[in-house]
Amino acid sequence: MIIAIDGPTASGKGTLSKRIAAHFDLPHLDTGLLYRAVGRQIILNGGDPDSPEDALAAVAFPDDLLDEPVLRNEATGSLASRASVHPAVRKALFDRQRAFAKQDGGAVLDGRDIGTVIAPDADVKLFITASVASRAQRRFKEMQERNVSISLAEIEADLARRDARDTGRKDAPLLAANDAYVIDTSELGIEEAFAAALEAIAAAQKS
Ligand code: C5P
Repeated sequence: MIIAIDGPTASGKGTLSKRIAAHFDLPHLDTGLLYRAVGRQIILNGGDPDSPEDALAAVAFPDDLLDEPVLRNEATGSLASRASVHPAVRKALFDRQRAFAKQDGGAVLDGRDIGTVIAPDADVKLFITASVASRAQRRFKEMQERNVSISLAEIEADLARRDARDTGRKDAPLLAANDAYVIDTSELGIEEAFAAALEAIAAAQKS
């Protein structure tokens, strides 16, 4: 079973994806991490994330970069969002994601274009969303727990910028697939969101 999970930043899709993968005993790929590694590698190379050439050169990042805590920072998220606009970068990361999706036994992948581009043939597609205000609150709490000094207003502005870039880009924009189950987590705790996701998965499997 392939489960494709898409949605904007801080919608809760990462946490949900991990829970769903553990529940069904499936391997999980956080595809945002690949784009974050590209963003980070661009900086390590002294490059510019808005340059398609510099961004493409950074696709050859070493795998151990994926474990670096700096990848989780807001700044790296913004770099990833800028780097992910370039079609050549998306193309270069396609095979790795596609192979993960098609492995024997199935997989859970989360990102922005899993249900639309990477695995349009997924058995289940979920689109996890939430209001900017509730996503910013969540991200703010997360940053406070990690002792990162950043204001709520800065986080809100960054989320809005990233949403605009991710939904507005020409290649593989952030978009719910026609056959995706949309779950709005603005008013849901993790347990409620997980229950809603399990319901949607059961419904998708029946249809
Ligand atoms: O999900 P995460 O916030 O880690 O993703 C960082 C950035 O990577 C996103 O803002 C988006 O621009 C990009 N991304 C993407 N396609 C994916 C996953 C992430 O364009 N499948």
